[in-house]
Amino acid sequence: MSDFVVLGGSGSVNLAHKIARGLDGLFVPLITRFFPDRELYVRVPVDVEGRRIIYVKSMALRPNEGLVEFLFVARTLRELGASYIIGVIPYFPYARQDSRFKPGEVISLKVVADAIRWSGVDAVVTVDMHLHRVSDPSSILGIPVANVTVMGDLASYVIQTRKERFIVVGPDEEAEQWASYAAKTVSADYVILEKERLGDEEVRISFSKDIVADRVLLIDDIISTGSTIVEAIEFLKKRGVGEIYVACAHALLVSGADAKIFLAGARDLIASDTVNNPYAKVSSHKAIIKGIREVMRNTR
Ligand code: R5P
Repeated sequence: MSDFVVLGGSGSVNLAHKIARGLDGLFVPLITRFFPDRELYVRVPVDVEGRRIIYVKSMALRPNEGLVEFLFVARTLRELGASYIIGVIPYFPYARQDSRFKPGEVISLKVVADAIRWSGVDAVVTVDMHLHRVSDPSSILGIPVANVTVMGDLASYVIQTRKERFIVVGPDEEAEQWASYAAKTVSADYVILEKERLGDEEVRISFSKDIVADRVLLIDDIISTGSTIVEAIEFLKKRGVGEIYVACAHALLVSGADAKIFLAGARDLIASDTVNNPYAKVSSHKAIIKGIREVMRNTR
């Protein structure tokens, strides 16, 4: 067994267990509970003094509670004398608010990044972080960050299960990084649609050129309300695309998004396990282990 202790934060226990197995480390689930007024109780039930700790905590669905748990645990690991701490944040929250779009808005990404650095972790590993205007997450966190991807694994899964070729479609300009990576992995072509966001749950999709494809893999980093994907499916159907497979790294699936996606005509929905969800057919643990090795090379 390696000397790593892999702590499974709330909501990330299964993924932490897989990471621990892959690293031959000791797996320990954290003890957490809420007091009646929703204050959080956390206990690290293992001696961490002098040990290398990997703390896995996805901050999806309840990002505010997730962030508090992360800060509590990371600070405590430091106080208890852990020798080296990697925070694995499979879903990194607040990354979309990376600018002050309107006067007075909080640049949420910056505040979250500052808080994570303050928590005392030595490095961070995350998966397909929503980076748009910021290209290197280490520059905002101020510590080594490995941003690994599952896009290639998602596309390979579809090829392996369907055994048929497809073109990859990204629903908007921001998705080019993910669609192009997925396409390259399976030697497919890709196209990027144009999206205009009209509200939290309302988008408009367009594309000025022809799309010649019977089968597509529509891929994005996050599916939240599903508005983007539903609009894209409806748009592709109108353009005569017969089979549409949908994939994403982070399946938040709020407001019944999965039902809307299937009702719009998706043949299948494939997600990773960065967020607990019923469509997690691809595990991110191998990519995360790669990221752990990468940050260790950069910090030791
Ligand atoms: C934002 O640009 C992201 O890449 C996703 O496209 C977005 O978060 C999806 O949100 P929704 O599912 O609510 O349309």
